[in-house]
Amino acid sequence: MSDTERYDAIVIGAGAAGLMCASKIGAHLKRVLLIEHNNAVGKKIGISGGGRCNFTNTGTKPECFLSENPRFCTSALARYTPNNFIEWVEKHNIAYHEKKLGQLFCDESAQQIIDGLLSDCRDANVDVRTGCSVTSIDNIGDFTVNTSHGEFTGETLVIATGGLSIAKLGASSFGYRIAEQFDIPIIPTRPGLVPLTLADDELQALNDLAGVAFDARVSTNKTTFEEAVLITHRGLSGPAILQISSFRKDGDTVHIDLAPERNLEEELRTLKNDDPKSTPFAFLNQQFSKRFAQRLCEHFSWIKPIGETSDKDLRKMAEQLHHWTIPLSGTEGYPKAEVTCGGVDTRALSPKTMESRDVTGLYFIGEVVDVTGWLGGYNFQWAWASAHAAATAIGSKN
Ligand code: FDA
Repeated sequence: MSDTERYDAIVIGAGAAGLMCASKIGAHLKRVLLIEHNNAVGKKIGISGGGRCNFTNTGTKPECFLSENPRFCTSALARYTPNNFIEWVEKHNIAYHEKKLGQLFCDESAQQIIDGLLSDCRDANVDVRTGCSVTSIDNIGDFTVNTSHGEFTGETLVIATGGLSIAKLGASSFGYRIAEQFDIPIIPTRPGLVPLTLADDELQALNDLAGVAFDARVSTNKTTFEEAVLITHRGLSGPAILQISSFRKDGDTVHIDLAPERNLEEELRTLKNDDPKSTPFAFLNQQFSKRFAQRLCEHFSWIKPIGETSDKDLRKMAEQLHHWTIPLSGTEGYPKAEVTCGGVDTRALSPKTMESRDVTGLYFIGEVVDVTGWLGGYNFQWAWASAHAAATAIGSKN
């Protein structure tokens, strides 16, 4: 007699996408197994949004996602919208607020989202196994999943194991390895929403300003974000830098406009006329902190009073402030990245169901897929929406 336990569907990875998917499948199918190798589910949800989970963004649209196949996310996002998740949040009596730019956060704790998802799994009789490591998967007729808790089989297998960011929270390359096992291509991965590191010279010049923040327009590769920039001990962070990091590939330069919407050349010329004794430091200190204004003057060697500076040099000064090119050495990598860009090639999946086009019954959802949202709740919205798409398809098949 075999010890194999049989399930209708097996979901691997109990993060945002896996928990949502398992609970929704459980509403249709009798025997659903959810496998998690951590000792607890949803660890990334728990630390997200500074512990308050920025669970969606009311401005979600396909343009807020990066992918080699940019239209892939459209169908799933249209069928499970931010309003659908807000209804879920309200049903679970979780109080929330908008922080800025459509970003919705829990008033109290991200744990409420985990508890709500787990309670849905319990209501749907999902068998949740934590501390369970998968050793191998075979696909002879059904899927056989060999684990530290024994052997399980199921007609349907959902891979929801997320990306590579923050290994200490359970991130693994498992999903990509399973894709490879089934000849499903992978778009090369790279850290996204990640602080950038500066080249040595620049770092030395800015290092002691760690903690200084300023608003700026940051651009790379024709993409621009206007938000706060934060100087860190290793380089630059803050929302504008995290956003741009997902678009930057190795070797690409990043430009910072320290005074978007202003015409600094005109302002400096006017100042030269009206107050020739004024210094570049005094001019910069109107907008920036004393330390940062001082450092900018040292960095660009702006010493003379404005009245003694030629118009040509004033133009150069304005250009340097509008177009500061930062020599970068790279990123702080997966240990500090909020997401992983790249992943399972969406051209191998159905945009309606997330099922593999070639391997019947095999689904990929959430961050393991080559769909990466901007900063601001978009990544969770993708996790919920892709989970919903797969669960709806799996439920209606059976
Ligand atoms: P997720 O990573 O959530 O879950 C995957 C699960 O699979 C994990 O529990 C993992 O342990 C498990 N697993 C991996 N390998 C396995 C294996 N071999 N066997 C069994 N289980 C395995 N997004 C957002 O929209 N708003 C926010 O506020 C934030 N904040 C934020 C902060 C920080 C610090 C980080 C690192 C990330 C965010 N994010 C975010 C991003 C967001 O957390 C992320 O996009 C989603 O959690 C992705 O959901 P998934 O379910 O796809 O993966």
